[in-house]
Amino acid sequence: MIPSKLKVVEVLKEVVYFPKGDNIINLKMVDDIQLEENLIRFRLLFEKLEDEKNQILIDTATQMLKAEFGDIEIDIIAASQENSLSKVKHIIAVASGKGGVGKSTVAVNLAIGLALQGMRVGLLDADIYGPSIPVMFGNEETRPLAYENEGKSYMIPIEKYGVKMLSIGHLVDKDMPLIWRGPMASNALSQLLLDTDWGELDYMVIDMPPGTGDIQLCLAQNFKLSGSIIVTTPQKVAFADVRRAANMFRHEGVNVPILGLVENMAYFTPSDMPEKKYYIFGKNTGKAFAEELDLPLLAQIPIDENVSEANDSGTPFSHNKFSPVTAAFRSLANKVIEML
Ligand SMILES: Nc1ncnc2c1ncn2[C@@H]1O[C@H](COP(=O)(O)OP(=O)(O)OP(=O)(O)O)[C@@H](O)[C@H]1O
Ligand SMILES: [Mg+2]
Repeated sequence: MIPSKLKVVEVLKEVVYFPKGDNIINLKMVDDIQLEENLIRFRLLFEKLEDEKNQILIDTATQMLKAEFGDIEIDIIAASQENSLSKVKHIIAVASGKGGVGKSTVAVNLAIGLALQGMRVGLLDADIYGPSIPVMFGNEETRPLAYENEGKSYMIPIEKYGVKMLSIGHLVDKDMPLIWRGPMASNALSQLLLDTDWGELDYMVIDMPPGTGDIQLCLAQNFKLSGSIIVTTPQKVAFADVRRAANMFRHEGVNVPILGLVENMAYFTPSDMPEKKYYIFGKNTGKAFAEELDLPLLAQIPIDENVSEANDSGTPFSHNKFSPVTAAFRSLANKVIEML
């Protein structure tokens, strides 16, 4: 009999790694499960391979699997958790169920806001279908350098405005269509994350593509995200998509904490009348969305034509100018630092 993966995962969810106070599935310590006739094999990833206590966990998992599946061979291979992201303290995904709400704008300005606070920051463009980061940073033509170590090649992220970044747009010609089938998309994303020498970072901000598809699931299930930020606009039509994104992160098996909501394009203030606020797309809807989802409203970003001009011209807005918009982004960066 070939054991069912669902059942194996169910049993392993009962195996708790006490130093971290959670089960080994939630902790993403189980990797590469292989199931054959009367055989269960997987890798168990440890922070420190030489720790004597690792064997206790391996024995517990073996016993529990035997109790469920009876006389079956269990092969648990202890492996190191170390990879290109091992020295990244926090990974934050900027997401939304909806397209065009300002995810990339928020991701870029959050990354710069964190860097301005003296943090070591990375920015990964996970939008492999429609990358925006190279345009927003004005480095579409820049290509990452690479080197080889022990037969494996690593890319060196591109650095600008104090942020280390990488996008599929830095690897392919800008006119090339980006068509990915099935698992290719997730593979491309995993390579951007794992075949890159990110070094030591305090924060890695990930600019997500719109929706709740393969890329979002691949990230949430295979990488340890510290939290996500959901971007919305004030229109009521945005809410269904925002709720979908929130439910995805909260879904069992995904389980990524949501730090809060960012309401982008919350209101418009003409630059010659800075005291006026026009709620073009609706007033207080961001607050209402946040309350309904039981999430904090982390920031309200005004509409400002200079933001989109900055995005298009490749000089991120937060970098030099000071305005209500930069103030909102900097306060968002401070809140993220406080929360994590
Ligand atoms: N606060 C703002 N004020 C003015 N323009 C903005 C603001 N936020 C975003 N924009 C503009 O709106 C457009 C969409 O923003 P952005 O690309 O950040 O959204 P997105 O959610 O990442 O989109 P996609 O789903 O396509 O990835 C861009 O042209 C951007 O410059
Ligand atoms: Mg985008």
